[in-house]
Formats: sequence, structure tokens, C-alpha cells
Amino acid sequence: MDFEIKYKDAMARVGKFKTPHGTVTTPNLMPVVHPGKQTIDVKEFNAEIVITNSYIIYKNDELRKKALEDGVHSLIDFPGTIETDSGSFQLSVYGDIDITNSEVIRFQEDIGTDIGTSLDIPTAPYVKYDEAKEDVEVTVDRARETINVRNNLLLNSVVQGSTYPDLRLDCAKRISKFDADIYPIGAVVPLMEMYRYSDLVDVVMSSIRGLPENKPRHLMGAGHPMVFALNVAMGCDLFDSAAYILYANKDRFMMPDGTLKLEDLIEMPCSCKICTEHTVDELRAMDQPERAKLIAKHNLYVSFAEIRRIRQAIVNGELMKLVELRCRSHPALLDGLRRLKQYQEDMNKFDPRSKNTAFFYTGSESLNRPEISNHNKQLDNVLPRSNNLILLPATRKPYNKYVYKEYIKKYDPEYPTFYTNYPSNTDYTYSDIAVVDVPFGVIPVEVDEFYPLAQNESPSIIDEESKRYVRSMVKKFQNNYDNILIHKNILEKYDIDGYKLAQEELHLPGSLPSDFERLKVIADYQFGTNAGNVLFGNNPSQLTIEKSRKTHKIRHVLKDGQIIVNMRASDGFLILSDLGAKLLHENFFSPHMRVVVSEEAEEYARKGKSVFNKFVISCDENIRRNDEVLIVNSRDELLAFGKSLLSSYEINDFNNGQAIKTRKWKNM
Ligand code: GUN
Ligand code: ZN
Repeated sequence: MDFEIKYKDAMARVGKFKTPHGTVTTPNLMPVVHPGKQTIDVKEFNAEIVITNSYIIYKNDELRKKALEDGVHSLIDFPGTIETDSGSFQLSVYGDIDITNSEVIRFQEDIGTDIGTSLDIPTAPYVKYDEAKEDVEVTVDRARETINVRNNLLLNSVVQGSTYPDLRLDCAKRISKFDADIYPIGAVVPLMEMYRYSDLVDVVMSSIRGLPENKPRHLMGAGHPMVFALNVAMGCDLFDSAAYILYANKDRFMMPDGTLKLEDLIEMPCSCKICTEHTVDELRAMDQPERAKLIAKHNLYVSFAEIRRIRQAIVNGELMKLVELRCRSHPALLDGLRRLKQYQEDMNKFDPRSKNTAFFYTGSESLNRPEISNHNKQLDNVLPRSNNLILLPATRKPYNKYVYKEYIKKYDPEYPTFYTNYPSNTDYTYSDIAVVDVPFGVIPVEVDEFYPLAQNESPSIIDEESKRYVRSMVKKFQNNYDNILIHKNILEKYDIDGYKLAQEELHLPGSLPSDFERLKVIADYQFGTNAGNVLFGNNPSQLTIEKSRKTHKIRHVLKDGQIIVNMRASDGFLILSDLGAKLLHENFFSPHMRVVVSEEAEEYARKGKSVFNKFVISCDENIRRNDEVLIVNSRDELLAFGKSLLSSYEINDFNNGQAIKTRKWKNM
């Protein structure tokens, strides 16, 4: 089964996969349909995929006969994709079931299920390690057996391992070898019922570390909309649950930020069809079954609305903002979000480097987003250009437009405003200049229009965590320079000490860095140390820098009439042209920025056709979605260049779909 990713944010994927009964968009919710007593028609909610239980069908003579004769799609009256569970859940509740793994797989195949599930062992949380380990062995054996038993049935292979991250990882890695079609993460229902969301994050992240990127993942039994965003951000693609019915049977309304009880309501809680067409009093007066049916419908409306909102947030590149919003609605969810900090490195491997929307800081947990650590990492590409550093307070953005006028030009020796760590007669005429601001800390003025350094908003009242982060970034810069000149507003705002008032007569720079100097730092920041020299050399008179007449932003950089790079207005990224790609290729060793393609793809790449994942032999581990890349053959000859659509980890795992959007050669 081919899964294809269309959009990405954090570890989340908006994608599609096909089954014999239709196309399924991810992320998605599979409502649980009871094969015998379903009262709600999920077709009304445009469900693309549902889940039902093959063991319940198997155990009931009438249902079994009908399913074997007419198929499961007819039995539950659903024409789209059907996934069936195997009876593992009954096993975990009753301790025993009377069907074997291969029997249940054959039965699922016989009733025409699209996606079947093997008889995994759902090990409860917090059981003894040895027990969890034994269960994993059985689960892995059954997953192996299943692959040989099935014919055309698509397969779920469930990750178990209780609350032991090493067992989860081990199980995930081992079942990944059997090439199932979907990888569910099992036995998380008790964790969610106990509100152990930080343990849930450990379980999900350690499972996903072991799973391939090119298969959808299903968080089994997760059906409350308030947990969807967090789990999608960790890489879960599918949810299923009977919760919409179970909650409704107890007169409970699911909301994206929690649960409401009918007994507490004086108003209907949302804008769905049910809440608009009925009043609380009407509902209270109804018979229980009729009322439960309406509340279940509300629960499904709200759940699907949340799924749609999540997909849109991924496309917009603002999923983490939604995750933070959702996780602030319950302290236990906030624990989950805080635990996610420990998996920052995992998330950085997948997060696109440029997004469509600004970075909105919603609280101190926003400091754990990939953008923050990515900026810190890319700063290491930029070496000091001088022995001295001047740190200026933030102004409106872009800083380069305001900061010089405000703090250097207006400097008045009568009112000393600069402090220093080295109070001697230093000449600061030639200094690097950076701005200190939340949440990114220190921003060299040259890169101040690079996404997200200009495209972000934070509250003006600054929290302690942000102050601490800013201080740590200032400290990091201290180590790279002999002398620092820091504006007193920064010291006051971020509680920084250890600086002394600088002498009154200061020799300050006569201007901000030139466009040429600016371009060189941007190139280093974006492509790696020394990329500025490689692309633009040391002689500004050999370059033509064309700017937008309207915005005065740099648009094109040329040498001898040939474009080296263009600058994209939306995110300030340098976009390679023929010459730029050639220069980087000649001067940086493989694998830097490389995507190596097989011989079959060479000709297509040279003609400017997109590169498909199946033709990629290897690639630079640092590549992320939206990065500029060099397309080469296995002799490292430059074939083409373009923009990556995926992260290196995805390119390596996928065998279908596009990897690189290639740009056409202009002059070669
Ligand atoms: N439904 C909820 N949890 C599980 C699980 O761990 N395994 C299976 N097969 N179904 C489930
Ligand atoms: Zn409603």
C-alpha cells in the first residue's frame, strides 16, 4: 500500500493512502462501528474509513453468516475503507479468546476487510518488565506469521511493550521488517483513561522512533478530540474510538478542550447541527437512547471538526500552536507537552525549515519548538567577522530598518547607554552587530529577515523562561568575542549582570553591514560555514545586487550577468540558481546538501523533472522540507538542483512519491 505525504509540520503528515475501497486522507478518525447494534450512520459525517471488530462478527452466528456471504461492507453498510480489529482487545479484557492468529487473519480476509489486524497482545501499562517482554515476543511472532497467512488483505502490525521505551522501540523495529501496511501503537487506552499523558508521550515517541516513515501509524483506541493534536504532532496519522458512543451513553459532550456533562449545561456547547437544532431542556426530556444518539452525533461532529482543523494547521505550519492551545486545557495534557521537550531532537529531524505562517509564542513551552533550537544550531554556521560584538535591544521588525537609527546613531556620550565586559579603550568601529529579542535570543542583524526571525510574535511582558533562554544565548555569544558592548535596556530587561558601564567616548560603527556583507552571513547561516565566500567571493564590485523597488529587499544576486541566487521575499531564503548550485557543489564535499540519485533518474533530473523517492540512493542527513538541495549521481556529478519536499529521513524510507522539486537549468 502506498502512502504519500503532501504537507508536513513538526512530525505530522497530511497524506493519502489507497485501499480497495477508496482513498483515505491523514490525519483521520475511524469511528468504531458495532457490527450488530450500530445506531449512528457514520456516512453522514463523511467518514472515509471506519473500524469494526472481526471477533464480534466471528462469534455471532448470524453476523458471521452474513459477513461471509455478503461481505463486511454490506454487513455494516459502509462502502468506504474498513479496518477490522482482531479480538486482541477482548483478549486483554477477558484474558482468553477462542480463535488463533492465523484463523482471525483468514476470517478477516474472507469477509472482505480492507485492513486486517493480527492477534497482538495488548500489555497493560506498568506491568513487570519480563511480562511485557514476553508479550512482545508473542506479538512479534504473530506479526511474522500474519504476513505469510494473508493474501491481498492489507495489514496492521501493532507495537506493544507496555510503558517500557526500550521494549516499544525494539518491538517497533522488529515488526517494521515484516512490511505491514499500517503500524498501530497499542495498549494506550489505559494510559489515556488514567490521564497519564507524559507516559503516553514516552510510549508514542519510543514506538515511532522504531517505525518506518512511509507507513501510516494508528493510535489505537484514542478517540477524544482533545488528544488528537498532540498525537498528530508526534507522527500519529489515524485515531479510532468508540468513545463518541461511550461518552454519549453517560450524557457527556466531547469538546476539543475537554468534556462537558449534560447535567451541568444550561446552553448547548457548540455550533454543530445537534447543538444548533436542540436545546438542553429538549435533550433532558428525551428518552435515554434517543438522547445518547444525538450526543454521539455531536461527539462525532466535534471530533471530525478537530481533525479538519489539525490538517489545516499542518498545511499552515502552525500545528504546534494548536498543540499548545489544546494542552493548556488540562494539566495532565500540559505534562504531555512538557515531556515532549525530551524528544526535541526527534522532532527537529522532521520539521520543515520554512513555514507559511508566523511563529506565535503562546507560553514558555513554545521555547521547545524546533524553530528555536534550529536557529541556535544554524547560528553555529556563522563565524565572528570581528573581535567585537555590539548587542542592541529589539525594535520593530525587520530590525535592520530601525535598530541603527534608534541605538547607534542616536547615541549620546552625555547619556551613556552601553555596558561592556572589557572596559578598556576598545575601538568598536568594526564590530558584529546583533539584536537581543524573545524568543530567539540573539539575532545577527544580517539574518534578521530570515524565517522565522522576522516572522514571529511574542508577548511584550516576558516570562522567566524566556529571560533565562535569552541569557543563555547572550552567554553563548560571549565566548566567541573578545569584547562585547551591550545596551543597558537589554541588561535591565533580561536581568543580565557582570557588565560595567563603557567609557563615554565610544567609537561606534558608521552603518549596519552592507548588502554584500549581509548576503554572506545569510549564506553561511542557511547553507553552512563558508558558503558566503563560495557564492559571493570577497569583492563586492564583482556582484550586482538587484533590489525590489517597492520593498527595497534584495531580490537577485548576479555575477557577470548570471544569477547566483534569488532571495525569496516570503521567508528571506536564498534560492539557488545554476551558478549558485555549481559553486556550492564545487566547494562543499559530499554529502553536504546532496541528494544522490540512481542512473535511471539521471536524464530526468538533468531535464529539470522532479526526483522521485524511489530513485534516491542516499542523501545528506540534514535535509529538511523546503531546503535547497544539490541533485547528483553516484560519481557526485551535479545533475540538477531544487527544493526538497521531505526530510532526509522520509526520503530514505519512502519508495513512492516526490522527493525533490527540481529547478530548470537556465544557462547550462
Ligand atoms: N484496541 C485498543 N488497543 C488495542 C491494542 O493494543 N491492540 C488491538 N489489536 N486493538 C486495540
Ligand atoms: Zn455540538
